[in-house]
This record gives sequence, structure tokens and C-alpha cells, in this order.
Amino acid sequence: MLNIAVLVSGGGTNLQALIDAQAAGRIPNGKIACVISSKADAFALERAKKAQIPTEILLRKEFRDGAEYDAALIALLQRYQIGLVVLAGFMTIIGESVIRAYENRIINVHPSLIPSFCGEGFYGLHVHEAALQRGVKVTGATVHFVNEVCDGGPIILQKAVEIRPDDTPETLQRRVMEQAEWELLPRAAALFCDGKITVQNGIASIAG
Ligand code: GAR
Repeated sequence: MLNIAVLVSGGGTNLQALIDAQAAGRIPNGKIACVISSKADAFALERAKKAQIPTEILLRKEFRDGAEYDAALIALLQRYQIGLVVLAGFMTIIGESVIRAYENRIINVHPSLIPSFCGEGFYGLHVHEAALQRGVKVTGATVHFVNEVCDGGPIILQKAVEIRPDDTPETLQRRVMEQAEWELLPRAAALFCDGKITVQNGIASIAG
């Protein structure tokens, strides 16, 4: 059984999808051991408490620099003996020391089909605003490993979602979550905990 840490900053609907998947037995080899928030008032914390999952708050402003923040994060992950780190709407930049310590053990959900609409500045609603502005007809979500390049790590799962002519950033965000993110993230976590994902030369493969 692998201990999972879910890192959040906001509403936590992706955390909820993981909690629901675990309750339904869809992550048989993983257990959400703690939820770490970069915001003290994130609604995600309420979701964790309701599911009786231990919560931790790690505010960037309480640390002198990124290195100290990263050290505190690593200490927390070690304390909970974490084997998989899931970024579920985590809006604080994770430094190289964390990435190195948990190489190919940190996954992130991004609300577009990478390599479109990703990288610095592309987070949350901004991603959907950019997709609508560009006029693409299909978008989606990606779950990928985190490496030192923003949204540049090996891609694990992707799912496409159609854009409708009357979409607003908000309606599109909601549909991408419902149709793609909430399905992909628990599936990727389960695959990882089953030991089914391998990475070679920057490419992730899933064992049948
Ligand atoms: C999700 O749409 C997630 O893909 C996005 O933030 C939202 C968090 O929602 N993440 C990023 O944009 C990362 N670059 P949630 O708190 O309800 O899960």
C-alpha cells in the first residue's frame, strides 16, 4: 500500500474525485495519507477533514525562501512516508530539491492537452480563457509527471473535451473537470500505485 499526499490550494474538486475513487475501491493499492494546502482557507481542507484525512498547511510566506519551503515540504512528505505526491490544483511552485527527491513520483493534473496552453502563467481559469481566445475546437486535460520544466514532464494520461460555441471560461473549466480531470487523476494515481507506469527517455508508458 502506497501512501499518497494530495497537494491543494483551492476548491479541491480533484481531491474529492480521489477521495471518492478511494472510497469506491478504485485505488486499491494507495491510501490518501495527508492533504497539504498552500492556503489556510482552501475549501479542499474541509473536504479532507470530512473524509478524516490528516491536513497540513504550508504557507509560502512563512518561509524565508523557496529552499526553506521545499525543505519543510520534504520533511512533511517523509513524516507521512509518502510514495506518491499528487498536485491537485496546487498553485505554489515546487523547487528542484523536491522534484529530485521524488523523481517520477509527483503527478500533476493540468486543464489542457499539453503541449497546448501550458507553462508559466497557464493555470486555472487562464488556461480556458486562452483556449477560447485562440478558438480551438477541442481541449482537455493532462496528467503528467512533474520535472524541472513547468508542465514539461512525461505525459501519463490525456483526454479530449469538445469546446462549444457558447462556452465561457467558467463553463469550459467545469466541463473539462467533469469529463476529463476527475476521471484521469484517480486513474493515474491507481495506475501508479499498481506499479504500472514506467518512464524511459522522458516517455511514460502504461503496462496493459
Ligand atoms: C483544476 O482545473 C486543475 O487542473 C488546475 O486547477 C484546478 C484546481 O481545481 N490546475 C492547474 O491549472 C495547474 N497548472 P480543484 O481545486 O477544484 O481541484
